[in-house]
Amino acid sequence: MIEIKSVSKSYGEVRAVDNMSLTIPDATFMGLLGPNGAGKTTLIRMLIGLIDSDEGQITIDNKNVSRDNQSLKKKIGVVPQHINLDKELSVKENLTFSGMLYKMDRKVIKRRVDELLEVMDLTKAKDRVCKRLSGGMKRKLMIAKALIHDPQIIFLDEPSVGIDLKARREIWDILKRMNSDGKTILITTHYIEEAEYLCDKVSLMNEGKIFYCDTPSNLIDMIGKYTVEYFENLVQTKFKYFKTLESAKVFADGINDKYTIRDTTLEDVFYSFAHRMVK
Ligand SMILES: Nc1ncnc2c1ncn2[C@@H]1O[C@H](COP(=O)(O)OP(=O)(O)OP(=O)(O)O)[C@@H](O)[C@H]1O
Ligand SMILES: [Mg+2]
Repeated sequence: MIEIKSVSKSYGEVRAVDNMSLTIPDATFMGLLGPNGAGKTTLIRMLIGLIDSDEGQITIDNKNVSRDNQSLKKKIGVVPQHINLDKELSVKENLTFSGMLYKMDRKVIKRRVDELLEVMDLTKAKDRVCKRLSGGMKRKLMIAKALIHDPQIIFLDEPSVGIDLKARREIWDILKRMNSDGKTILITTHYIEEAEYLCDKVSLMNEGKIFYCDTPSNLIDMIGKYTVEYFENLVQTKFKYFKTLESAKVFADGINDKYTIRDTTLEDVFYSFAHRMVK
């Protein structure tokens, strides 16, 4: 279990994470959504012990992340937001080298590398140096690298940026499977449909704070299951959310322009949350 208790982190004047508390039970698939600069990456960097918090405490399985970092390392896999590959090494060498850093047995490394190359559809490119990979292939290799030691907890910071649709769906399947095998996963993403598809729970974050943390369907119920989408004065698309279809219809009847009534999505929740933040 991951426990974040009253954690804060500032960079000079910027309070990147502000008195945040969150508990992530084992085998949860948690999504962390928030606009640019919300503090998502800062939180992940504290969760993996890369930076210390200014205040508060983070524990993973009752171990303090900043103090017991070495013993936790084997349990955790991280896909950072920015490319962290050794660009002069080949795909296979990058993975093998990561396995060696975890002091894994050579035979196990070899088996695991072959498995992950296959899963990520990188077998054909295994001898290519990383600087010659496409953007999406680099992302896939980063995910493979994070999984080399079969970690129990996986943090992914915008893992699917630049990955094509087919590969993204394949990665979703891999992550879903790992989660149903009992792994705990925390993912940040700007692709809301990714969070809606994958996550049991979603935390909405802005300015260093978590405002809501619930299942996607409860978050949708919170703003209203039915959305009326309409074009106001032919210049701006507007959205209004309703708890019942009847009330949505009553409202829609009063609109002079074109409108549609549809099911609310997590994207609407995020949009209305972000909109409120701006006001
Ligand atoms: N090393 C740093 N030095 C100074 N300020 C930083 C540093 N890292 C992050 N910040 C600031 O902290 C705040 C939170 O940044 P963070 O990278 O955690 O956001 P994020 O939610 O990951 O955003 P994005 O969606 O753009 O990746 C921002 O205002 C950012 O400018
Ligand atoms: Mg970030």
